[in-house]
Amino acid sequence: MGKMVEFKPLKNDLILRAARGENVERPPVWVMRQAGRYLPEYHVVKANNDFFTCCRNPEIASTITIQPVNHYNGVLDAAIIFSDIMVIPQAMGMNVEILDKIGPHFTDPLREPSEMETKLTKEVDVLKELDWAFKSITETRIKLEGRVPLLGFCGGPWTLMVYMIEGGGTKLFRYAKTWLYEHPEASHELLDRITGVAIEFLAQQVVAGAQMVQVFESWAGELGPAEFKEFSLPYLKRISKGFKKRLVELGITEHIPITVFPKGAMYSLDWLADCGYDVVSLDWTIDPVEAVKIVRGRVVLQGNLDPGVIYGSKEIISKKTEEMIAGFGGGKQGYIINLGHGTQPFMDPAKLGWFLEECQRVGSA
Ligand code: CP3
Repeated sequence: MGKMVEFKPLKNDLILRAARGENVERPPVWVMRQAGRYLPEYHVVKANNDFFTCCRNPEIASTITIQPVNHYNGVLDAAIIFSDIMVIPQAMGMNVEILDKIGPHFTDPLREPSEMETKLTKEVDVLKELDWAFKSITETRIKLEGRVPLLGFCGGPWTLMVYMIEGGGTKLFRYAKTWLYEHPEASHELLDRITGVAIEFLAQQVVAGAQMVQVFESWAGELGPAEFKEFSLPYLKRISKGFKKRLVELGITEHIPITVFPKGAMYSLDWLADCGYDVVSLDWTIDPVEAVKIVRGRVVLQGNLDPGVIYGSKEIISKKTEEMIAGFGGGKQGYIINLGHGTQPFMDPAKLGWFLEECQRVGSA
């Protein structure tokens, strides 16, 4: 300890108040993948640099993180650090690159359980391995000057297990499913190892300056309810509990909100409402009215506009935004606006801007 930096006070703490379940003047809004390829200024800064070169350079990572905050001046209520969920597999000893227009690529994936011994580091020194990630967070927090809170994040254990075994994106999940059904014990061992790293990584992001964190279980929808309960839920629960415990050990007494995004597994909402998370992020396959009914105030909800709506006309964006906010009860309590998944490279920044402005207008009404 002792290395905590003094940061400027927050000028906009709306998302933190909403995440704590307080009454707010309007629902806060941010967007998954708000920093990225749909923004022309992203391409200028990224230029010919490799994706992880950008993440590992605090100057570049902080500039890209703040780009959407500047672009949509005053209408975004949070920044999310420019990084990727693949940094945990990297810290565990795996080599991952992001290939242009393809996505994550592992040069040597874990195809057999025995390969955990040879390809993974036993005791991961998170502070050392992800030192760059903490530096980028601190640098970004300084540069934000308290304009909006900075969010940290990590991948969910099952989602990272899929990538580590498949070696990249997949439609079949052939190798990861072979592990689940052929090697359940080895699967649990791998999930357990990832979970330990995730807890330390999230807590250290807070020490470095993150003010709220999110766990992206992006492949949750590949699991049926029974498998979700066995291979995802217990680990997500361990992360929320372990994160809070670790913060106390690190001397952080403030309540740091933690969000979980179980993409594709909206059947899990009732369970996740009791798992120690402050916020559950929803995709667009669940009706907001239904979601509110299910959680009965146990947890704050985030989401859930189909990102595809941004391809629609301004009129459609307004209509769908109004319906969504009304569905979540107007958003003055227990709600954070977001899309149901990330932005896409083909989106028009002006249309996303229209969505954000409509969120302000409708949310303030
Ligand atoms: O603005 C932000 O949201 C912060 C940065 C962020 C990125 N990835 C940047 C990124 C975050 C939070 C992520 C999380 C992430 N990464 C997830 C979970 C969220 C989700 O989408 O479900 C996942 C599954 C990944 C893995 C990953 N990284 C994929 C599938 C890809 C390729 C995406 C594509 O559409 O091609 C990446 C690369 C990546 N991560 C990019 C960005 C901006 C594109 C990199 C580039 O410029 O080439």
